[in-house]
Amino acid sequence: MNITDFRKMKASSQKISMIVCYDHWSAQIVNQSKVDCILVGDSAAMVIHGHNTTLPATVDMMIQHIQAVAKGAPQKFIVGDMPFCSYRKGLTDTMETVDKMMKAGSHAIKLEGADDNASIITHIVKSGIPVMGHIGLTPQSVHSLGGFKVQGRQQDAADRILEQALTLQDAGCFSLVLECIPYELAKRISAELTIPTIGIGAGPYTDGQVLVLQDMLGLQTHKPKFLKTFMEGFSLIKTTLDQYDNEVKSSTFPTINEHSYEHSV
Ligand code: KIV
Repeated sequence: MNITDFRKMKASSQKISMIVCYDHWSAQIVNQSKVDCILVGDSAAMVIHGHNTTLPATVDMMIQHIQAVAKGAPQKFIVGDMPFCSYRKGLTDTMETVDKMMKAGSHAIKLEGADDNASIITHIVKSGIPVMGHIGLTPQSVHSLGGFKVQGRQQDAADRILEQALTLQDAGCFSLVLECIPYELAKRISAELTIPTIGIGAGPYTDGQVLVLQDMLGLQTHKPKFLKTFMEGFSLIKTTLDQYDNEVKSSTFPTINEHSYEHSV
């Protein structure tokens, strides 16, 4: 998949699958899967580094994750997520970060919010770099939003999110993440835009879906309403670890025939 396929897929009503992935080993698996594209999300701060929000994600942290994913998934279109405040410190700083993220292996960048970001998005796009927008629940604004809450439930808030979507399309975004908004609003936005919408907690009517790999594999203990776990990863891995522990303690692993080296003669 490349940038031109996003619009083509929307035009031909083909759904886009995207997965959030942060590291080399899982990127290698995604690379061999049919999943269309990868987001190296700043949710790495929470999922990988154990923080409560995405705010502690840094440019250096994101660069490390993008490089690891790019090496593991050379056949996938990779979107790098710009971390908290990294696109709010003026044009020069923003472009330095974008430059680093593209050199690390991203094919596009994503940033949260609309309004004030429109001119910077247009500048990035005019520099030849595809930009994905992100509206609805924007986790970097968690403290302004008063928590990780569904957005756009009231009519005026819904109208405002639609307006933001149109602003981001006009600014040059090639695609938009819609996070945690009512499905009727996501349907309305997806119908009005010519660029594809990628939903997470936004119902079935978006042009594509994105989930965090660890979430959809059932590796996390939290389970928001929007999440479907396609595998019970946590208990499968725990059971496997217990089996390993058991085999070490009962001396059934390693065996001489299968897992041991012999002295040379
Ligand atoms: O960082 C992330 O995982 C994201 C997705 C929720 C879209 O931005």
